[in-house]
Amino acid sequence: MKYRNFKNELQISQLGLGCMRFPVLNDDNAKIDEEQAERMILHCYENGVNYYDTAYPYHVGTSEKFVGKVIQKNRLRDKIHLATKNPVWQITEHQGFYNVFEEQLQNLQTDYIDFYLMHSLNAGSWHMAKKHDIYRFMDTIKQDGRARQIGFSFHDNLNIFKEIVDAYDWDFCQIQLNYMDENYQAGIEGLQYASRKGLPVVIMEPLKGGRLAPVLTSSMQALFDKNNVTLTPVELALKYLFNMPEVSCVLSGASSYEQIVENVRTASTYGVGDLTQNEKNLIADMVEFYTSRTKVPCTGCLYCVDDCPQRIPINIIFSLYNGRYIYENDKLARIQYDAHVPAKRRPDHCIECGQCESICPQHIKIIDELKVAHEDLLSIKL
Ligand SMILES: NC(=O)c1ccc[n+]([C@@H]2O[C@H](COP(=O)([O-])OP(=O)(O)OC[C@H]3O[C@@H](n4cnc5c(N)ncnc54)[C@H](OP(=O)(O)O)[C@@H]3O)[C@@H](O)[C@H]2O)c1
Repeated sequence: MKYRNFKNELQISQLGLGCMRFPVLNDDNAKIDEEQAERMILHCYENGVNYYDTAYPYHVGTSEKFVGKVIQKNRLRDKIHLATKNPVWQITEHQGFYNVFEEQLQNLQTDYIDFYLMHSLNAGSWHMAKKHDIYRFMDTIKQDGRARQIGFSFHDNLNIFKEIVDAYDWDFCQIQLNYMDENYQAGIEGLQYASRKGLPVVIMEPLKGGRLAPVLTSSMQALFDKNNVTLTPVELALKYLFNMPEVSCVLSGASSYEQIVENVRTASTYGVGDLTQNEKNLIADMVEFYTSRTKVPCTGCLYCVDDCPQRIPINIIFSLYNGRYIYENDKLARIQYDAHVPAKRRPDHCIECGQCESICPQHIKIIDELKVAHEDLLSIKL
């Protein structure tokens, strides 16, 4: 494993384990496949990964409890850095910050958090958080030692990012970045802005939630061949991030043991300055390829699905809609729509309550886009 200097001489592995996409049982996001997920955590630990990122809502509230259990069982608490996040959008009064925080300490079976983030900040949630005096909360838990480093994760535009960076004496921050998102949300400019201010930056969604991990079609393979690149798509996307000196840690989400094994291996192999010119050229080609074919920038984070009263599998619908164009296989998209999205869970059952749109980190106009996706997939003749 390769390590990077964080703040205060902390050495953090350049790969951190994201605890939001563990394998699950029966397609139920609340039922983590604990046996496989524990093997994944232990593989990471045994191969030098020392940063583990969970959050209050992940896996419908079960991620923190599971991670806490594994850490306790394997006596890992003082050997790793634990990151979790306060769901600031749910907080309606100052005391609410502490109530959640104390519940999180219990969930994680610990009396301190190494890296504590204000979760998924955007203009609206930041405004409300300040109204509830989030500064006093952050100062208090840092001073009493229950949170060692305070940061925030972010999903909004660059100007808001800079405003938040400048608003508090943060220890670190977390942004979405991958080779498709250089100019999206905080993007590369945000990364450099934070880094110039001495703020370590942790990266989430390095594969755009898995969208940059396709099985190569012949069109994609032709681009790899043209540029003489033999890396897998996942190696390419991770190597792109490890190449950047401003990146402090790349969080990897994985839904199987095999995936995390590959990603740990990649993190042990490539570092700053290793990306070749051919690989840079291939990335430019892949950006063009995806840009021309992606209909909806959904990353499948499931924040919307967990809250949908109609239980519409929004992530699956957008994935099939995009997939139709990326994989150039119309019939397969329609067959999978029929197989995986039952009639009563389709967009025509959406009650337009808007809960999904209020929580979507990508700010997708989900209600309208769902209708378009539904029509598009149904228009495919079998
Ligand atoms: N703070 C926030 O607002 C926020 C938001 C998002 C994420 N995060 C954190 O950041 C972490 C990383 O983000 P992410 O989970 O979106 O990461 P990601 O790396 O962009 O996406 C993870 C997905 O990529 C696919 N994948 C990963 N490794 C693969 C491999 N070797 N081969 C093939 N496919 C592979 C899997 O998709 P399939 O499951 O489809 O196979 C996996 O579920 C999260 O786990 C979470 O801890 C935070």
